[in-house]
Amino acid sequence: MLDAVPERVIAGLPNAPEPISLLLEPVQAGLPAVSVTATLARRGDGWVGLQFSRLNRDVMDYFALALLLHEAGGGGAPLPASLLPDQRHELDTEQRDRRSRTIHSLMLDVQRVAGLEIGAAIQAKLARIVDAAPLDEVANWADRLSTLDGDHPEWVALVEMLTVHETYLYREPAQLALLQRSLVERLGTARERRLCLWSAGCSTGEEVWTLCILALSAMVEAGLARESGREIRLDPRWQLEVVGTDISRQVLGVAKAGVYPMGDLSAFRALPPGMERFFPEGEARNTRRVRDDLRAFVRFAHGNLVRDPPPVAQADAVLCRNVLIYFPDLVRAAVQRRLVSALAPGGLLALGGTDRVLIQADLDPVEDHGALIFRRR
Ligand SMILES: C[S@@+](CC[C@H](N)C(=O)[O-])C[C@H]1O[C@@H](n2cnc3c(N)ncnc32)[C@H](O)[C@@H]1O
Repeated sequence: MLDAVPERVIAGLPNAPEPISLLLEPVQAGLPAVSVTATLARRGDGWVGLQFSRLNRDVMDYFALALLLHEAGGGGAPLPASLLPDQRHELDTEQRDRRSRTIHSLMLDVQRVAGLEIGAAIQAKLARIVDAAPLDEVANWADRLSTLDGDHPEWVALVEMLTVHETYLYREPAQLALLQRSLVERLGTARERRLCLWSAGCSTGEEVWTLCILALSAMVEAGLARESGREIRLDPRWQLEVVGTDISRQVLGVAKAGVYPMGDLSAFRALPPGMERFFPEGEARNTRRVRDDLRAFVRFAHGNLVRDPPPVAQADAVLCRNVLIYFPDLVRAAVQRRLVSALAPGGLLALGGTDRVLIQADLDPVEDHGALIFRRR
């Protein structure tokens, strides 16, 4: 089930539940036209989705062009208001078509080159970008962009604008406390002398540093590490690896530096008392930096959750929080499968507060004080 088609766009189509035939027309050279049958499904918030009888990469690509469906509706219905700033009314038909083609080709490229999934939020952001400059210039820019490599600074900047990076240390403390208790339990029965944790979609790194402190604290509690003075030392027979990945290269730069400004809405806004010792003052005024001993256990890598294999295997814990909310269900399910595949038996999975488990997997919920994580059987 894919969503993103606003109700008005498909107002001219027959009512659910009869299947409808759609011809998805190519808007980019080299793509074939695709015929599909689909049924409409309604979501509570007034948006509808299309359930395709046949779902493959072609259909997914075309779905990214969902706005085209207004043509399939036969009425040339206006584009949804959410994508249309006021000045849209002043565009003539030819310009309007060009504008939608530019947005469509950007959506395709954002998916193809940057690997980002197109949801309503990204669609709306792209529309705003297209409307921010004269159409000729934007169309030329979009053409040029489609020839550039995903590592090109213009792509890096665009990905930055399209993604949400909000994060801070010790976010969702109840879930983290449950994770720490579960890790202590797991350490008690561990067969391998290694603890491996992955933060998938780690943004500027705060979740990774939190995980590192949490894992070290669990190891101290289990008698496998000792804190003395300004460092924590592991039992030399043990290893700890904490990996953070993100699709945005810019945030990874900040994550690796591990220096954060202080202030009301800073990385430190929810830091529990006593934890400041892990973040001594930085060289620049009003900053704190990650304590040196933590760095040896952590590594960051670029990774697209939708396309790339997990960076770890047989992990003890995987966190993927506040990332999947922007993905369509189908993609969310595929990513969840990938996250679970990175876990060792008994390994722990932590999702975001609003994420549901969408896959059939051998996962048992572990709940305590309203917090929820999952354990792989
Ligand atoms: C809101 S932040 C969440 C950070 C952290 N997990 C937390 O909960 O505080 C979401 C992050 O997911 C990243 N992201 C989005 N799509 C991604 C993808 N396909 N693969 C990897 N990371 C992605 C974004 O770049 C962003 O840094």
